[in-house]
Amino acid sequence: MYYKSLKKFPHDFLWGAASAAYQIEGAWNEDNKGPSIWDTFSKLPGKTFHGTNGDVAVDHYHRYKEDVRLMSEMGLKAYRFSIAWSRIIPDGDGEINPAGLKFYDDLINELLKYGIQPVVTLYHWDIPQALQDKYGGWESREVIGAFKKYCEAVFKQYGDRVNYWVTFNEQNVFTAMGYRWASHPPNVTDVKRMYAANHIINLANAEAINLFHQLVPKGKIGPSFGYGPTYPITANPDDILAADNADDFNNNWWLDVYCRGTYPALVMNHLKDLGIAPEVTAADAKLLKSAKPDFLGINYYHGGTFQQNKLEHPSKEDADAKDFSSTDPYLMQPKDSQAQEPETPMFNNVQNPYLTKTDWGWEIDPVGFRIALRRVYEKYQLPIFVTENGLGAQDQLTDGKVINDQYRIDYLQAHITEMQRAMTDGVDMIGYCAWSFTDLLSWLNGYKKRYGFVYIDRDDDSQRDLARIPKKSFYWYQDFIKRNS
Ligand code: BG6
Repeated sequence: MYYKSLKKFPHDFLWGAASAAYQIEGAWNEDNKGPSIWDTFSKLPGKTFHGTNGDVAVDHYHRYKEDVRLMSEMGLKAYRFSIAWSRIIPDGDGEINPAGLKFYDDLINELLKYGIQPVVTLYHWDIPQALQDKYGGWESREVIGAFKKYCEAVFKQYGDRVNYWVTFNEQNVFTAMGYRWASHPPNVTDVKRMYAANHIINLANAEAINLFHQLVPKGKIGPSFGYGPTYPITANPDDILAADNADDFNNNWWLDVYCRGTYPALVMNHLKDLGIAPEVTAADAKLLKSAKPDFLGINYYHGGTFQQNKLEHPSKEDADAKDFSSTDPYLMQPKDSQAQEPETPMFNNVQNPYLTKTDWGWEIDPVGFRIALRRVYEKYQLPIFVTENGLGAQDQLTDGKVINDQYRIDYLQAHITEMQRAMTDGVDMIGYCAWSFTDLLSWLNGYKKRYGFVYIDRDDDSQRDLARIPKKSFYWYQDFIKRNS
């Protein structure tokens, strides 16, 4: 569809940027914070890039005022960040920590002082280690009550000032990485356990949404999903079926539960046949049906291209060739390999010949962003908040203060244009948060994979002075927001 002119972004469109607690805060054991599973996992030998961790990260905990001042200079309308559960309740389900509450109170007040809307993520992958030790983390239903207690504390504390809330960030990514590939905590490789934990997280998500609607009736809440559209590699009906299967396994398996309160039948039947389906009680089904998100958060990096899978069992070489040093959901199946997991022999992830890639092999696909927004909106009819989109690159600091990241500007410009086309097509959009505001710790790629508008002067080996230096993209986004186009 071509238009004579594109629809203008509304004046209250939330132009923002995003982050997550573990990736920026540091101060991992200060002011009574308890350890999270990431504090523990990142210290296991060989688990993260060059042994990097978030002990100091970019020291946002101590420098949040400077960071918020830069956000205001940039003209941000919204800032998405996550709360570290183990700052609020250090052992997960015991006493509430006043110092933890105070940190986010101060941050929220600082944002509001400059007219920046806080967008709060409840869970960005960092369950308190104590809950992992005591109950086995998300594999136990005990954790649902603990999560509700934490949610109640923060809804009551911040619900008067925070309008937009995200429940879980990329449930598809952290369950697969944590329970299928052991490349995230809790370091497990067991698909049956993955599906069981995922179901418990779905219940926690539903409980949090219902509680929120009781306690903060004027606010808006929804999950943020790591979404990628699926394409068939050819017009061969077998490949089209493979792309449909991938869509069911990679997207609908979560989105149908969030938005319709039911699991997609195809995947459920398949998992039952393999004996790895989660146990869903009648009470569970009722709970999932009862929770209605107000919007859907979409994190978009790219989609995936699929062909009919020819082999049902991976060869040893294929299995050994797997590289999971990425949080990219579509790299979970190594490209151009026939390696498959037992429950997904019905599609194979392959290279898309039409797309270029980032330095980390992620396809760059702005048109896919428009396709993604249209597909998700048409299917679920919920307003969409883009809660992440951005480019990881190895930025170079020149002359001590200049970062010419024109490639990031080009990337963001192309994606925003496609988002505007999707909006013109009729998709109801709330806002757009680029990933990320400052550079931050990439879970598995250390500090050299940079996403920020603001450069942080540190690397994997040295914290240096952690100075904040706006990149060229900072000034580009500043100008873009000012003109709202
Ligand atoms: C998303 C996550 O999956 O992608 C972020 O929500 C993450 O936390 C981002 O940092 C980029 O991933 P990576 O692996 O490039 O750091």
